[in-house]
Amino acid sequence: MEYLVNSSEMKRCDSNTIHKIGVPSMVLMERAALSSVEELYDGSFNLEKVIVVCGSGNNGGDGFAVARLLYLNKINVDILFIGDERSCTKETKQQMDIVRKYGIRISKDLSFKNYTTIVDAIFGIGISRSIEGKYAEIIDKINRSQADVLSLDIPSGISADTGKIMGIAIKAKRTVTFGYKKVGLVLYPGAEYAGVVKVKDIGITDIGFENQYPFIYSYTKDDLKRIPKRQDYSNKGTYGKVLVIAGAVNMGGAAYFAAKSTYKMGVGLVKVFTPEENRTILQTMLPEAILSTYDKNNIDMESLKKAVNWASAIVLGPGMGIGKNTKDILSLVLSNTKVPLVIDADGINTIAKYPELLENHHKEIILTPHLGEMARLIKKDIRQIANNLIDESERYAGKQNIVCVLKDTRTIVSDGKSGIYVNQSGNNGMATGGAGDVLTGVIAGLLGQGMKILDAATLGVYIHGLAGDIASEKLGHYSVLADDIIDGINEVLKAF
Ligand code: ACO
Repeated sequence: MEYLVNSSEMKRCDSNTIHKIGVPSMVLMERAALSSVEELYDGSFNLEKVIVVCGSGNNGGDGFAVARLLYLNKINVDILFIGDERSCTKETKQQMDIVRKYGIRISKDLSFKNYTTIVDAIFGIGISRSIEGKYAEIIDKINRSQADVLSLDIPSGISADTGKIMGIAIKAKRTVTFGYKKVGLVLYPGAEYAGVVKVKDIGITDIGFENQYPFIYSYTKDDLKRIPKRQDYSNKGTYGKVLVIAGAVNMGGAAYFAAKSTYKMGVGLVKVFTPEENRTILQTMLPEAILSTYDKNNIDMESLKKAVNWASAIVLGPGMGIGKNTKDILSLVLSNTKVPLVIDADGINTIAKYPELLENHHKEIILTPHLGEMARLIKKDIRQIANNLIDESERYAGKQNIVCVLKDTRTIVSDGKSGIYVNQSGNNGMATGGAGDVLTGVIAGLLGQGMKILDAATLGVYIHGLAGDIASEKLGHYSVLADDIIDGINEVLKAF
């Protein structure tokens, strides 16, 4: 697990490291500078003519130290200081004095020469208002130059808390960030502006949080150890029974993708409840699934009840349509089941239409809306939601007492009370029909094997993204289909 920190958490950790642990701030700056220079030397930057652009905050101090190290390594380096010397922090002033004593010239001339690499040390996590005037002018010039840009800690102009652009922001080739990854480097558009992000250890550790840990987190490959273990002494009953209620006439594929990915996650038995019309396709494509079909004009609610009572987890919604059948099925399932439930697609659209279905429920429910479905659920504009992914998913999850998996480039998972999970796996090749059904199946697979709903939702999202990464790597980002993501699940589980 990795923490994604906001500016106040980082400042607190920084300050505790300096004042309570006793690591001098100049030591942290030196380590930040050394690790940045290390990046500059990895072969991706043309160091023929370098300029370090420094502001008056401590990010500028890091920049002065970088310039000094480059100068001492005989690199042709200029410094442009665009702050006000009187408002420099103590540390930045000190770095400036050191640089001057080494005889390095500090320019204030905003006219830009032909540099091959620009180090952006204008603002770090301390940006507090929209960028204007000479700051905006220089950022614009940097963005229009041909140079490679390395940003220190975060691209100047990106909010460390939200990833939003504060008026204008540096577009970096790479960002070296110190101690912990900042939330704004992961959320868009910050993630795009940051380029490749490298987290550098400069001696700031979890001790600096003093038991008040960051609220936002993400998974790394290490977290695959959370996947439920297979046991030597076991049978198919050991790994759960998942009921997939999915598909309408002409939408058998949704049921297939959800059911197949549930199986691929390791569940013992999958039963599909779907209209009779989908029998042939499902029995041909996925003979492993147990079928329970219904007459679309007259659903046998007793057989549905039996299937519900059989299951240890339930999927409801993929490809079902938003007609009366879905509403009747959803309402029967919600009033009869005691097992965890993943509601997706038309299950969500039906809740949006009949919000009373979720009122006062005492179930373990995961909802997996994409932005359009979320807009229907909470009756807000998609753009408004996209701009506030974390707040909107947390608020809705808390209000409905569910786990909300808000699907976007960075999927957010929240139960409204614990930390917020921000997913970093996955890629644009996964923007393809059926990918959502696969995610539903992956989460259900983990639920079926007994994982708690928040853990199943977060880990499911992470695995699904990794499976998509494997698929895109093999096939390119244009040609990934839902089935390829399912094939990727094998690879993820095999590696684990
Ligand atoms: N327009 C113009 N000026 C602005 C704007 C704006 N839109 N927004 C902010 N500023 C100015 C303000 O003067 C602000 O200072 P204030 O908060 O006192 O008003 C200043 O820019 C903020 O500068 P930053 O360099 O972004 O922030 P800070 O000084 O907090 O440093 C830090 C951030 C610690 C450098 C972090 O980004 C980093 O890189 N950490 C690496 C580790 C490190 O070096 N740690 C030790 C540093 S020393 C210490 O912490 C005491």
